[in-house]
Amino acid sequence: MRRFFLTAAAMLALAPITARADDLVAKGQYLAKAADCVACHTAPGGQPFAGGRKFELPMGVLYSPNITPDPKTGIGGYDDDDWVRVLHDGVARDGTHLYPAMPYAAYAKMTRDDALAIKAYLMSLAPVVATAPANEMKFPYSQRWLMVGWNLFNKSGKVLEPDASKPADWNRGAYLVEALGHCGECHTPRNFMQGLKESKAFAGADLQGWHAYNLTSDETAGLGDWPEAQLAQYLSSGHADGHGPASGPMAEAIENSLRFLTPDDIHAMVVYLKSLPAQPDGPPAMAAKAAPPSPNVAGAHLFVQACAGCHLPDGSGRQSPWASLAGAHSTGDVSGTNLVQILAHGSQMQTNDGQVFMHSFTGGFTDAELAAIANYTIGQFGGREGQVTPQQIKAARGAEDHKETEPPPKS
Ligand code: HEC
Ligand code: HEC
Ligand code: HEC
Repeated sequence: MRRFFLTAAAMLALAPITARADDLVAKGQYLAKAADCVACHTAPGGQPFAGGRKFELPMGVLYSPNITPDPKTGIGGYDDDDWVRVLHDGVARDGTHLYPAMPYAAYAKMTRDDALAIKAYLMSLAPVVATAPANEMKFPYSQRWLMVGWNLFNKSGKVLEPDASKPADWNRGAYLVEALGHCGECHTPRNFMQGLKESKAFAGADLQGWHAYNLTSDETAGLGDWPEAQLAQYLSSGHADGHGPASGPMAEAIENSLRFLTPDDIHAMVVYLKSLPAQPDGPPAMAAKAAPPSPNVAGAHLFVQACAGCHLPDGSGRQSPWASLAGAHSTGDVSGTNLVQILAHGSQMQTNDGQVFMHSFTGGFTDAELAAIANYTIGQFGGREGQVTPQQIKAARGAEDHKETEPPPKS
């Protein structure tokens, strides 16, 4: 009887603790999605969070480490304080100063509780034994201690305190965009030290051949003319009626992160983004209302042959709203930056309604033909005179060939 009593008491005491632990893991899983840890810490086709993704930076080549709980090759040895330090200050457990390719300048704005919830989630995963290939950073960037100086100038982030003068959804949105979503890492231009230019926050930036567009409320270059409902649609599904699909790095952010966020969180992000002060930088988004560009017979013919099967001759998209090109920022940009990337590399995205896919056009067409198609696309759907050159196509293709033929480096 006595024994039973003890056991029952022990069970009563234990039950809420286990439930709380489960809650913490579930909370951490959601936050890890909002912070998109998996995107960078997973090699193409590799085990989630086991690291090994390659980053080609101006300063050299970097590989993400394994963040599964394996004690030797992963994060198994991290205690709570080590963990908060790596996310807030970019200093690993062994004292290594991380490069800012790990967006700790943004994660510094994350609360300690949220950081520890993410840790609880990652520690609940099955450990994977995996060591990333050795980095090949160029001198002097190979000197990690230089990051101490970098942090001094470029890392201003402290845990984001709510602004009492603003509504709760604005504050939640600020936290999701600035701290977890690290949107500025791609959408804010960088200074000569590769730090973010705070004075140009969210004014748009180039990364790996793509342009991450202006997210401020500028009417022409930014999101000023996007109704809230369309912005919410874009963030949660990867396309917006009248603004086209998300491709390349943004498609990845939708696939791995944003599509899992609750409607309330998406709404909060929209509220915050719509409040960003206008910056006029970057290519225009809206189709020009001016005179139509000069006729491009070769481009028109090739578009029908190569593109209309999915996009329809009028760009409205066959079967899938993701193939609707109307209003896509990529077609308003006369330099064709993202358009050339999608032609050379294709794009794909897992959405909550299945996979959307555009193959690359590296084979079958000459550089001149692809440039003609690109300029036709810009003229037809952006209403502007495209300036894409065959050299641009060649360079984008070259990068792709280089990627495929390069042998994997050994650690
Ligand atoms: C934009 C890409 C990117 C994202 C997003 C990202 N990381 Fe990283 N992370 C990296 C890279 C690259 C490194 C290695 C940096 C280096 O070697 O200097 C790294 C290093 C780390 C380390 C150091 C491990 C060690 O001890 O060597 C930890 C821990 C870590 N990341 C956790 C996370 C967590 C948790 C998240 C999500 C909250 C996250 N990362 C999101 C790119 C990223
Ligand atoms: C890894 C880099 C990266 C990250 C992180 C990222 N973006 Fe993007 N984003 C891009 C690129 C590149 C494009 C252009 C995509 C295209 O042409 O389809 C883009 C496009 C967009 C657009 C469409 C703009 C337009 O005018 O068409 C919105 C809105 C957007 N991003 C919001 C966000 C938000 C909010 C976050 C943070 C949660 C975020 N992005 C994080 C790279 C990124
Ligand atoms: C197999 C069907 C298919 C074909 C063929 C195809 N596309 Fe696409 N295209 C898509 C889909 C689906 C998307 C959305 C992909 C995504 O978001 O990841 C897309 C996206 C685009 C975008 C939007 C990029 C952005 O983010 O704003 C442009 C521009 C584009 N395609 C142009 C073309 C051109 C030009 C051709 C012909 C050379 C072509 N496409 C051929 C299916 C196709």
